[in-house]
Amino acid sequence: MQNLYITRKLPEQLVGQLRPYYNITEWESEDTVAPTSFTLAHIADAHAIWSNVADAIPKEIIDAAPNLKMVSNLAVGYNNIDAAYLKKKGIILTNTPNVLNNATADLAFALLMATARRLPQNIEAIRRNEWGSWSVGFGLGMDIAEKTLGIIGMGKIGQTLAKRATGFDMNILYYNRSRNVEAERMYGATYCDLNTLLQQSDYVVIFTPLTEETRNLITLNELKQMKESAILINAARGGIVNEADLYKALNEKVIWAAGSDVFETEPISSNHPLLSLQNFVGLPHIGSATIETRQAMMQCNVDSLIAGAKGEPIPYIVR
Ligand code: GLV
Repeated sequence: MQNLYITRKLPEQLVGQLRPYYNITEWESEDTVAPTSFTLAHIADAHAIWSNVADAIPKEIIDAAPNLKMVSNLAVGYNNIDAAYLKKKGIILTNTPNVLNNATADLAFALLMATARRLPQNIEAIRRNEWGSWSVGFGLGMDIAEKTLGIIGMGKIGQTLAKRATGFDMNILYYNRSRNVEAERMYGATYCDLNTLLQQSDYVVIFTPLTEETRNLITLNELKQMKESAILINAARGGIVNEADLYKALNEKVIWAAGSDVFETEPISSNHPLLSLQNFVGLPHIGSATIETRQAMMQCNVDSLIAGAKGEPIPYIVR
């Protein structure tokens, strides 16, 4: 039997499916990262690793697992993994595509709405007894319907967001490495360059993977191109937006507000500078966090790992 190292405790309903195929070692906790010494000790004879998006799999870990044949990552993004090095060594990488498109697009739209209508701030106002009576200037946010939405990264999730935006009669612009004719045909999205998107959009939503190309894609320079009334939403990865620059832009009202589900270094704590701002809404990386979606994501990993153990074609391989 082959050996599988699981970087986090995962539900037995999923892990149990793997027991006929693998000797399994799991880190004992669901929500903390295993100490490197534990990981190193247990991957020495691992044929497969089932990793979590918050667990780094750098070159050193890969080199410490000489029998490694597959890494299955519990996410669609895999910036936590040295994918190029895996490829070079002929080790298979799998992820969880498509099953999280709806949940992640829903969350991005929910964050857009919460940021635009200042939901957390208004909820907080009630808690602090700041609700006097109905007044014309109290609790004001921004309209969403009929505004221009600029989507950076028109992949599957970006396209699912565009679909939601059509229900709000939004005008959709997008910037992507290549044209997405389906999004153009089905949702009336218009392809443009990044500068045009930044200058014309009322809402800019980021849905591009984090790569060396997209790291710091949005700095003060880009934020300065946006409208003063614009809102930036990042539900993709921290690191795409330069956080220090975002703080400066929000603090100096270069843009109106921002919402982010992701941060440069996660988790953040309550003293993170962005959380001190009244025009920022932060969420703890919950894009795909629904009961059904997380179940489906884990099943993708299980299916890939079982196929790998049986020597069958792997269903969710990253190419
Ligand atoms: C989660 O962040 C994912 O990439 O699936």
